[in-house]
Amino acid sequence: MPPRVVQALCDDPRFVEHPREHDIASRSPATGEVLGGVRPDDAETYERALTVAVESFDRWRRVPPPERGRVVHGVAAAIRERQAELGELIALEVGKIRAEGVGEVQETLDIADYALGLSRSLGGRTIPSERRDHRIYEQWLPLGPVGVITAFNFPHAVWGWNAMLAAVCGDVVVWKPSLRAPLTALATNRLAEQAAAAMGYGGLFHLVVGDDVTIGERLAADRRLPLVSATGSCRMGRRVGEVVARRLGRTLLELGGNNAVIVEPDADLDLATRAIVFGAVGTAGQRCTTTRRLIAHEGIVGELTDRLVRAYRSIRLGDPLAEGTLVGPLIAAEAVQAFERAVAAARSQGGEVLIGGRRASLAGALSKGFFVEPTIIRAPATNELAIASEETFAPILYVFTYRELDEAIGVNNGVDQGLSSAIFSGSVRSSERFLSPDGTGSDCGLAYVNLGTSGAEVGGAFGGEKDTGGGRESGSDSWKAYMRRQTCTLNFGREFALAQGIRFE
Ligand code: UN1
Repeated sequence: MPPRVVQALCDDPRFVEHPREHDIASRSPATGEVLGGVRPDDAETYERALTVAVESFDRWRRVPPPERGRVVHGVAAAIRERQAELGELIALEVGKIRAEGVGEVQETLDIADYALGLSRSLGGRTIPSERRDHRIYEQWLPLGPVGVITAFNFPHAVWGWNAMLAAVCGDVVVWKPSLRAPLTALATNRLAEQAAAAMGYGGLFHLVVGDDVTIGERLAADRRLPLVSATGSCRMGRRVGEVVARRLGRTLLELGGNNAVIVEPDADLDLATRAIVFGAVGTAGQRCTTTRRLIAHEGIVGELTDRLVRAYRSIRLGDPLAEGTLVGPLIAAEAVQAFERAVAAARSQGGEVLIGGRRASLAGALSKGFFVEPTIIRAPATNELAIASEETFAPILYVFTYRELDEAIGVNNGVDQGLSSAIFSGSVRSSERFLSPDGTGSDCGLAYVNLGTSGAEVGGAFGGEKDTGGGRESGSDSWKAYMRRQTCTLNFGREFALAQGIRFE
């Protein structure tokens, strides 16, 4: 029998209790237990979903935005009712702790509130015309069915950011979830689609499950999807970017991060320690916003690393669903291997392991889980550690030392990715230098002062620069990505006047 939450939430014809070879099986990364599976899509069922998506879009775009907001609100209500169970399913399927699973569902509820507000404020600007008796204004129009590709680490919330905004903008959603979290996707999409259908608007939320070739490539190449929003690795994003660009479609890419925290000599070390621990080991180091590098001033690096090592000793590793666990397993065996490879590389490059560094074997049911020890590695005195420029999806924190703030900012910016960054400082001068309006401070899309690199609220735009892909999701004006802009110019006079003063008589 599948676990209770799986039974409760995956009551869907595509669910299979005993997945066979061609099905997409879902396994608990904590125990190896098979939780169930999903029958994958093929070319034919993909086509059927797209046909319905295109038809539904044509109906949905005609619905006034405030009514769309009401529907999004109804979808959120259905998700809120099942928040605890969904949070548990997420914890079971991807191994994040229960509080983080429930928090992830909260992120969808928050963005749904945001979308509801937007439904009465999706507005354009009026622009002064150079011609008498003319008016120029912008309006924002629904874009079309939108492709959404999500990763295993936020198997629910990243869909929420995209889907809630897309829906309120008049678009419908075609979702390709990670094959590592098919059940969360099945449950989430089913709740949303059923709630919308009960309000008279079926066909807004589609799920297409399958591998990169059968579904991923097809979706990226599909001209019926004017926008593809993709979250995941830089490798995946590069491929999606290429395929979508070839057909001149739009992408919204939210890819890897290699996020650093700078700690100044006058920082509040209590605050910094807590934030660094959460940032580095939360979600077992598998967030795109995870703190991967610590850049500490030479005057406090000793004390700070001592505090961190002490804090790491008290971290409880174990069953993500058990009370008191702070760190669960990695997602799969390959992730454990990547962790081991990174630690070995760091050692061979002169890094010193201060704590952790090994896979963790737990007893009983957890003995087949993919657990690793939260790890801190100090860079050698040269401050050079090549492996730290790679994003390894695991709880490894590399420690660098600096003397002058400019040097620290250089280290912060000295990687290919540009998602999140943070500084701990008691001084306005250093904080403002880090956020300098001339752009010479942090080069990341997210910059925090006296906060860690992860745990963004939904209200701001979320995303980053360089290899992170440049896209912005979630709050602020990210909704504009899901709409098409039209510049409207109107002549309400009787003269035929040309712009730029051209006379044509
Ligand atoms: C991700 O890891 O893809 O800021 C998203 C955060 C979360 C979102 C992370 N709100 O850590």
